[in-house]
Amino acid sequence: MPNHHSFILAGVMGWPIGHSRSPKIHNHWFAQYGLKGAYVPLKVEPAKLETALRALPALGFSGCNLTIPHKEAALTVLDRIEENAARIGAVNCVVAEPDGSLTGKNYDGYGFVASLHEAAPKWQAASGPCIVIGAGGAARAIVSGLIDAGAKEIRLFNRTRARAEKIASDFGAPVAAYRWEERHEALAGAGLLVNATSQGMVGQEPLDLSLDALPTTALVADIVYAPLETPLLAAARRMGATPVDGLGMLLHQARPAFRDWTGTMPDVTPALRALIVADL
Ligand code: ATR
Repeated sequence: MPNHHSFILAGVMGWPIGHSRSPKIHNHWFAQYGLKGAYVPLKVEPAKLETALRALPALGFSGCNLTIPHKEAALTVLDRIEENAARIGAVNCVVAEPDGSLTGKNYDGYGFVASLHEAAPKWQAASGPCIVIGAGGAARAIVSGLIDAGAKEIRLFNRTRARAEKIASDFGAPVAAYRWEERHEALAGAGLLVNATSQGMVGQEPLDLSLDALPTTALVADIVYAPLETPLLAAARRMGATPVDGLGMLLHQARPAFRDWTGTMPDVTPALRALIVADL
């Protein structure tokens, strides 16, 4: 970890790297905490990922984030993969260790659960079944985070059921995959509903899901953050359930990464949220 005299450098590697919000988030924190440092976007083509990662320590970087398509490829390149990154099957955070070796981590599941706790401090993963719709990379991270948070039952639904079954078999109990047609009735008794699909995003159809069976005590979370209030979250709000937008996951996954690189655990403040919302 860099001492307080050093200039801290971190970045995000992607290809392309156009709309990553991470530079805005981390540079806001460098300024807020008076740390000398910078977070820069790095456009790294897939064939050069290993070379680029190996250069990080030599260039004085404390680490980096990874976006698609590097998150999975990094699993085979780094010196050490933390258990939850291995379970999720993707690395979103790389830490350059003092000896120059590289550790791969994944804070997406952590960030998701932290965003739920920010919206509803009393919510507990074990208080009722968690319904997850979708089976892509985001769904894997969310399932992992919910298991770590103590979820006792996770009901997984995906248009292509085989992908949901793969997650269920990879993670084992408490995850079970169900038929896509059963998703509406399966909301009965749920403590949490999560949309981990791209449905509801600007330019996409709303998620096709009836909330009639959902208890009003449930949290309803969406990974989509453009728009901030998706049709699903608007419907949740109307029925009296607690909506949790997708920006929280993005902001909260960044906190432990910044801590790993700088030694300072930063906060998600209204000012940071407003800064990113203005950029959506
Ligand atoms: P990521 O890894 O970022 O989560 P992804 O792998 O493309 O992205 O996953 C997108 C998710 O949205 C998938 O669960 C996908 O369902 P399929 O596995 O059946 O493709 C889901 N999705 C996309 N379009 C959908 C639609 N029209 N209806 C229902 N689900 C949809």
